[in-house]
Amino acid sequence: MTALQFDLLATDPDSHARRGTLTLNHGVVQTPIFMPVGTYGTVKGVMPRSLEEMGAQIILGNTFHLWMRPGLDVMGAFGGLHAFEQWNKPILTDSGGFQVWSLGAMRKISEEGVKFASPVNGDKLLLTPEVSMQIQTVLNSDIVMQFDECTPYETQGRITNEAEARRSMELSLRWARRCQAEFARLQNPNALFGIVQGGMFEHLREESLAALVEMDFPGYAVGGVSVGEPKEDMRRITAHTPHRLPAHKPRYLMGVGTPEDLVEGVAQGVDMFDCVMPTRNARNGTIFTRYGDLKLRNARHRNDPQPLDPSCTCHACAGTAGVSWADGGRGGFSRAYLHHLDRCGEMLGPMLTTIHNLHYYLNLMREIREALDAGRFGEFRRQFASDRARGV
Ligand code: GUN
Ligand code: ZN
Repeated sequence: MTALQFDLLATDPDSHARRGTLTLNHGVVQTPIFMPVGTYGTVKGVMPRSLEEMGAQIILGNTFHLWMRPGLDVMGAFGGLHAFEQWNKPILTDSGGFQVWSLGAMRKISEEGVKFASPVNGDKLLLTPEVSMQIQTVLNSDIVMQFDECTPYETQGRITNEAEARRSMELSLRWARRCQAEFARLQNPNALFGIVQGGMFEHLREESLAALVEMDFPGYAVGGVSVGEPKEDMRRITAHTPHRLPAHKPRYLMGVGTPEDLVEGVAQGVDMFDCVMPTRNARNGTIFTRYGDLKLRNARHRNDPQPLDPSCTCHACAGTAGVSWADGGRGGFSRAYLHHLDRCGEMLGPMLTTIHNLHYYLNLMREIREALDAGRFGEFRRQFASDRARGV
């Protein structure tokens, strides 16, 4: 069995958008897809059965966090992350490059890897491309990400210059080679993705991309976006890089983004997305809906009998029957009740808002796939933009 097979089903004539299926060791994923983030081996507050109910097809885990806790001995004893977290569908793990980078002043980067003090117990640790591959092999994730350096947009208030972006991009390329060698040595049966870096410089991104394509990975990611840059830089890189990647391989835009970013990313030829936004924002009371974003903490929701999104069929909005208010269903939880749960710090509050936001993201991707199947993605894009601009 090959670790990964990608089949293109349809392409949009007016954009770079594609519809495909991605077959992995733990199942088939319909693309374009959004992947909920489960850093510590849990999508915060959501049971795996609810994820399945919402139509999640693949979720993320993080090498760095799972290495810290519970540690490789426990992960190894369970034969990997799937059995440990009770999720039998595909899993993608990020390599730790981005997460270690997020430690800020606590880390030191060298050719060898990244030295840092464990945020759990202060132990001195070294994460290298080889160690990242060893951890991800124990986790047995379906998609393994290369260990890279996520080039920051700015450090100490100064924007990364071209020489710094080049140094970082070239380091990530050397690490990509070491990842590939170690992944092969370990006989990891899954699929390893390369990550395009190059900061905000198109020509550096083209060099990175060409070198990674030469290495012949089964899939490619675009990294180093959504790292604090202005929106127009993010859009410029999203418009530049994805469609230049090999057409017959899956493309993953890391850490992106808003619903608008997802639709735009698909139009630029992206097949896979992940972002903490739907889950994190749910916990902060920011709700995504068809007609724009809703701030649940606003006092105007105190007595509002409507569900979060009257057009939504999630468990929070439509109850167990799953019939939206717009279609005549009257189940589900009111904005007033969810506002109340939030004010009281009740744990059911973020559980329900997380279900809604994830359902919104997963359903958005489902609508995108249906539009691509029906050859009406352009029309969908226009309708989406006008609906979202209407306001809740
Ligand atoms: N998550 C978001 N951006 C990145 C990136 O550039 N590299 C990695 N490894 N993970 C990411
Ligand atoms: Zn809902």
